[in-house]
Amino acid sequence: MLSYRFRDGVHVGSEESDCVITTPYATRLNSIRHSLRFEDPSDSFKALLRDLSTDGVEREQLSIKNNPLVNEPCRSELLADLDNFYAKGLLLIEISGVNGAAICLKPVRSMLHRRTVPEGGFRIRFSRYVNVQPFNDGLRISSPLSAGAVLVLDQRLFPILVQLVSECDEEIIRKVLPDDLQEHCADVVSMLLSSGTAGICDVQGVPDVDKEAVDAGWTAEDLEFHCHTREQMIDLCSGQSVPRPVDQERYPAKHQRIILCSQSLPRPSRINNNLSFFQVIHSRKTIRSYQDKPVNVSVLADFLWHSMHIREEIRCDPGLPRAYEGLLRPVASAGALHSIELYLCINRCIGLQSGFYHYDSANHSLGKLNDLADPCLQMLDLAAASTCRAPQSTSVSPGQGQRPDVLVVMAARYGRNAGLHQQTGLSYALILKDVGSIYQQLYLVATALGLAPCGLSFGSSELFEQVSGLSGCLECSVGEFMIGNPR
Ligand SMILES: Cc1cc2nc3c(=O)[nH]c(=O)nc-3n(C[C@H](O)[C@H](O)[C@H](O)COP(=O)(O)O)c2cc1C
Repeated sequence: MLSYRFRDGVHVGSEESDCVITTPYATRLNSIRHSLRFEDPSDSFKALLRDLSTDGVEREQLSIKNNPLVNEPCRSELLADLDNFYAKGLLLIEISGVNGAAICLKPVRSMLHRRTVPEGGFRIRFSRYVNVQPFNDGLRISSPLSAGAVLVLDQRLFPILVQLVSECDEEIIRKVLPDDLQEHCADVVSMLLSSGTAGICDVQGVPDVDKEAVDAGWTAEDLEFHCHTREQMIDLCSGQSVPRPVDQERYPAKHQRIILCSQSLPRPSRINNNLSFFQVIHSRKTIRSYQDKPVNVSVLADFLWHSMHIREEIRCDPGLPRAYEGLLRPVASAGALHSIELYLCINRCIGLQSGFYHYDSANHSLGKLNDLADPCLQMLDLAAASTCRAPQSTSVSPGQGQRPDVLVVMAARYGRNAGLHQQTGLSYALILKDVGSIYQQLYLVATALGLAPCGLSFGSSELFEQVSGLSGCLECSVGEFMIGNPR
């Protein structure tokens, strides 16, 4: 038996003589759910809505011609209404057998494209991007690209999932279907195709749903992260448990660390060279080799001041329940959250002991956390080794990269972003955007100060955890930047 029901999160109400269907979908920016309004609906339409909200509607009820309960013009109208609800991602489609619900298609986006079994022979397989998660006693199959999830509730259908790992045809699927579900072979294939979790294979065996992503080289992890953070319409009833709210008090805007000793830094009195802003932009470039004379503490102080010092503490979104403390710095940050802290591995610097420091951006001082111990040295070596990949020059051997005078490590206090963005799901994406904004700030300020700047791609949060003494869940390293005196 194949039936349709409204999925969870769909609510049917009335306003005067109109019917209003509230959907589970909203934009990420504004969590007001989208709704559909139907003016002066007919009695049969109201009955359809009632059935879809309760026990569901069996396909046979509507599709059997000459059904005495439903007359012909009314039947085709109701089928069109069902199609409309299907396409808008409002219907749960369920196939049941002797054990009850066996397999369902649950839309997760507000647009679902119905695909039927192609004429002639076909070969079908799972998308390479599918995720399989336990769901009640069954499995939930989804993919970042798919508009629906397939819920396999009857374990007798698990062999189909095994078959779909490689290409298979209708015959193979039919063979593994239990007797009571044989008549639904085409429906099961249609469900898999419509969900987007499986596709029809080309001659190379690539399912059509994956073609563009595979050609562009998307990894499953990147595609998941991208789709998760860039979708405009979101499903507010996705069934994922709502995370525990973050206690914002635990992540104040200003971050103080327990330190061994503190060294205050001089405030900048002048910029060391005469470059105009546009000259700075024009002359900015990556420099990876350093002269014998190290940087000195006053230039380092200027570098930190013009990049990251706290200009002002502000109250963000005042008057709203989500009001929070924000910061203003020379560099921009999403929501003025400024959850990124700078740590410095000082390899050599005139006027400052080597070691591992936290930049106190409120007091413009450096707090020492550690000597230049093993994990710090490993971080410097990793940085030096990463410069061997400079694209403009011929590669050098890993031993030839120079350790920078100072390695700047950017570490994010995830909880600060999560305090504001747990619901939108954008916390980590915004942290990475803030990192990009800081990279550019460090490049420009270093250029203006005549320093040698180099952003890095590789870093180790493991080494950062060891040297900072903090759990990566509280503060995790997300970016690295080298500076020295240019050769
Ligand atoms: C996010 C980011 C990561 C980078 N990673 C590295 C790296 O790992 N090693 C390196 O030598 N340069 C790295 N660079 C520097 C780029 O290679 C450099 O910007 C690019 O070659 C263009 O040269 P230019 O900066 O002189 O214009 C990075 C730059 C950025 C912005």
